[in-house]
Amino acid sequence: MSDTYAVRAEALEKRYGEKRALDGFDLAVREGTVHGLLGPNGAGKTTAVRILSTLVRLDGGHATVAGLDVVRQSREVRARIGLTGQYAAVDEVLTGRQNLEMFGRLFHLGGRRAKARAVELLEQFDLTDAGDKGVGAYSGGMRRRLDLAASMILAPAVLFLDEPTTGLDPRSRGEVWDSVRALVASGTTVLLTTQYLEEADKLASRVTVIDHGRAIADDTPDGLKNRIGGDRVEVVVAERSEIPRVVKVVARVCDGEPEADEDGLRVHAPVTDRVSALTEVARTLQDEGVRVEDIGLRRPSLDDVFLRLTGHRTDVSEAKEAAA
Ligand SMILES: Nc1ncnc2c1ncn2[C@@H]1O[C@H](COP(=O)(O)OP(=O)(O)OP(=O)(O)O)[C@@H](O)[C@H]1O
Ligand SMILES: [Mg+2]
Repeated sequence: MSDTYAVRAEALEKRYGEKRALDGFDLAVREGTVHGLLGPNGAGKTTAVRILSTLVRLDGGHATVAGLDVVRQSREVRARIGLTGQYAAVDEVLTGRQNLEMFGRLFHLGGRRAKARAVELLEQFDLTDAGDKGVGAYSGGMRRRLDLAASMILAPAVLFLDEPTTGLDPRSRGEVWDSVRALVASGTTVLLTTQYLEEADKLASRVTVIDHGRAIADDTPDGLKNRIGGDRVEVVVAERSEIPRVVKVVARVCDGEPEADEDGLRVHAPVTDRVSALTEVARTLQDEGVRVEDIGLRRPSLDDVFLRLTGHRTDVSEAKEAAA
């Protein structure tokens, strides 16, 4: 792994009126890696990406991208980056190929090179077969891949991806992840914002957690998961009276202390070997004749991360709960 940083931000400040969108935000992204920026709605992810990609002026602090100052050398920075926004920028009426050729011309490639680059990118993002179909007929995953391809026209050193898979079904999400991995294998550094711990875990070698415009943790995905206790086996019973027996079984089979939620009729405990622990718990409960409503594996969510790091849940989930 390289020791140089593709992105560095120190004490970034950005205010919108009274609102502090960024409030002393720090970030360091190693060259040649995928770095996750994980946070709930309104945490400041898009604002950070906009500042780093020179679209928005900062009010305080200092940031470099590819070693260049985002304020004083904004033109040079722009020549070295790609950006895929939270909302797809491709034209519905055009075909995938026409979209890429149009972006190529926007980047002054000239007609012949724009055409050739479109062919390469359709191939790289597995869109060759769909290339001559109108984008209106693309699935969500195909559209995001086309969006990624468009931001790669000039093979940027640093690519900013703002929530590239929000709203996609699991299969499309997997396709986008594959494309991101391929990009990094070809040498691009990626800063990816996401609201999904699972996505950061799958793609990123390091994750910064952002809350209220500030980095509240910076760690490897495993480090983060360890802090919050990792994966858990969860058993739901039909009747409260079954809980003590389930606790006993779970305590015997799982690695850590089980927790019982009497009102939710749930028992859960941390596990390291997910699948074998699940199988063992299911088998033992069946052997002992315990009536079980549901049993499964639960991965830690963004909410679990927040609860552990801040002592409160994300504002978004609290608001949802209050409304319910
Ligand atoms: N142009 C703007 N004018 C006023 N307020 C803004 C503007 N852009 C962002 N904000 C506010 O700054 C805060 C951070 O917003 P930002 O869009 O960076 O969050 P985010 O982490 O990208 O959220 P999401 O997950 O919803 O995209 C929010 O409270 C938002 O309302
Ligand atoms: Mg955003």
